[in-house]
Amino acid sequence: MPRIPVKVVEWSDVVAWAKRLAEVIKASGWRPDVVVAIARGGYVPARLLCDFLGISDLLSIQVVHWPGAAQVAEKAYIKYGLGQADLAGKNVLVMDDIVDTGDSVLLAKEAVEKCCSPKAVKTAALQVITSATKFMPDYYAVEVKEWYWYQYPWTALEDMESFILRILREEKRPLWSLDDLSAKFVEYYGEELLEKRYTYFRLALERLKENGLLKPHDCGGVQCLKQNL
Ligand code: ADE
Repeated sequence: MPRIPVKVVEWSDVVAWAKRLAEVIKASGWRPDVVVAIARGGYVPARLLCDFLGISDLLSIQVVHWPGAAQVAEKAYIKYGLGQADLAGKNVLVMDDIVDTGDSVLLAKEAVEKCCSPKAVKTAALQVITSATKFMPDYYAVEVKEWYWYQYPWTALEDMESFILRILREEKRPLWSLDDLSAKFVEYYGEELLEKRYTYFRLALERLKENGLLKPHDCGGVQCLKQNL
């Protein structure tokens, strides 16, 4: 078992889940007038949902957690709200990609209720991790019982970068060949991620070099990388 269990989500999964979610919402008989995407994970799912439901009013609110990918999250807070948006008389659906702890969606729902006088606010996500969340969204497409980091297509590069950085920080090893780093990556995150997102692994290494966190180094005639954290 890898240290951090990761599942790769493909674009085709996302579209199928958004379609399924739209069907669940339609079947409930409740129709949103406005969708509020929770930035940034909710953007693509919310846009797809609007398409499947035929909704043209799409707004956004940004909830931020620190630190980032697959690490223990500190308190969530609203970085950008909806300002003065007038939602009087509107049914509002707050949408995210995944409900994990439940903090983001709950915070966003309460913020919309406070700021903008909507008629009703409901919540939705593509996925919900029922073993982790303290808040169940009103609508979801997929229920998962065990915690995984879901590698969505819209975070492929930034996840890869933070995954590699985590290895560099934890291993405290100065020099890395590409093979050593790939092997360590598999040990931390499993084979599937490296196989399916290898292009992003290479792009993340390039970005870490651009940012000066890795430097090309000559290891006795063989190219390797020197960490500079
Ligand atoms: N954002 C918060 N929790 C997540 C998870 N388990 N997978 C992907 N993105 C997330």
